Amino acid sequence: MPPIEPNLKGVPETMLWALYNRAAEARRPDALIVDPLAIQIADAIKYDYARSFGRPESGQVIRALLTDQLLRAWLDDHPAGQVVALGEGLETQFHRVDDGRVRWLAVDLPEAIAVRSSFLPDSDRHRNLACSALDLRWMEAVDPRQGVFVTAVGLLKYFHPPDVRRLVAAIAERYPTVEMVFDVMPHFLVRLARAGRYRRTAHYTAPAMYWGLNRDELQTLRTWHRNIAEVREIPFRGGRGVWYRYVLPLWQRLPGLATACSRWCTCGAGWGKGDCNRFPQVDAVEQSKPPEWRPKSSLPGRSFLRRTAPAGRFLIIRLALHRRRVCRAQGRVSLRCASRWA
Ligand SMILES: C[S@@+](CC[C@H](N)C(=O)[O-])C[C@H]1O[C@@H](n2cnc3c(N)ncnc32)[C@H](O)[C@@H]1O
Repeated sequence: MPPIEPNLKGVPETMLWALYNRAAEARRPDALIVDPLAIQIADAIKYDYARSFGRPESGQVIRALLTDQLLRAWLDDHPAGQVVALGEGLETQFHRVDDGRVRWLAVDLPEAIAVRSSFLPDSDRHRNLACSALDLRWMEAVDPRQGVFVTAVGLLKYFHPPDVRRLVAAIAERYPTVEMVFDVMPHFLVRLARAGRYRRTAHYTAPAMYWGLNRDELQTLRTWHRNIAEVREIPFRGGRGVWYRYVLPLWQRLPGLATACSRWCTCGAGWGKGDCNRFPQVDAVEQSKPPEWRPKSSLPGRSFLRRTAPAGRFLIIRLALHRRRVCRAQGRVSLRCASRWA
């Protein structure tokens, strides 16, 4: 790959952060993710990752793996479906989940697409589009006939709250059945970043963030548009180090603190007119596990939400991501991305 010196600032620079973490993980002998392309791209970019981002950490890797899982399951049900990846940066997800039929639209700002295109050029099923996610003209490049899955990973927190709401509502309005996955930050971290105090290293401070959501606010997403049939939380599990292995699981169980842990969750909103009132791919992931690997307890709010939601259309579930076990449990995952997981 030709070496490139990217001149990225502000939010677009964060795509190097995510790439760095995925590539660092993929290099490990016990890697959670198999992503040789991320390694090649990271090596080809002239950038002092460690100086800016410090030691690699696995949060963004788990985020990517969770999204991979959801996408693979969705693609099983939607052959030749259309994936729209908003704020795609240097994600190599297309290559990780490609089933030979998926069509992929990577949407990002022009400076980010310029870098992306030099490593991940357009092909018959993969297209890069230089367009802000907030400029809804990207919708004209989407073919919704086989279903649409929108990802917005590491993106929405940088938008102002009314913009996030407008974007989500526009997607729900435009496509008859669509599913969307995105991660959210709790308010305290958003406030920290907005104040310029989310310092990664002496040389790098995360850009300002504006949209946050605590766990106890997830249900408000459903009110954003009448077509939104369901919102699910996928708690963040797995990862390396003391924080991910011990502190976070404890944090997620502590009442009070748990509401502020949505930074570590991936939210999925599935909506549609009429019959799209479930999120089958998550169920499929759960059901594919042997019973002893399925989560033993549900979220505290689950039964409440079930009781109060009309026809069970609003549900928050827990998806257990035991990193090794999930991969072993799903032949697809272990075959495609994780020969080293076992
Ligand atoms: C944290 S990176 C995430 C990249 C990728 N999703 C990943 O996980 O590796 C945030 C990305 O959002 C992109 N971005 C920022 N503002 C955007 C906008 N208005 N429209 C589309 N993309 C945007 C940035 O250029 C960057 O690529």
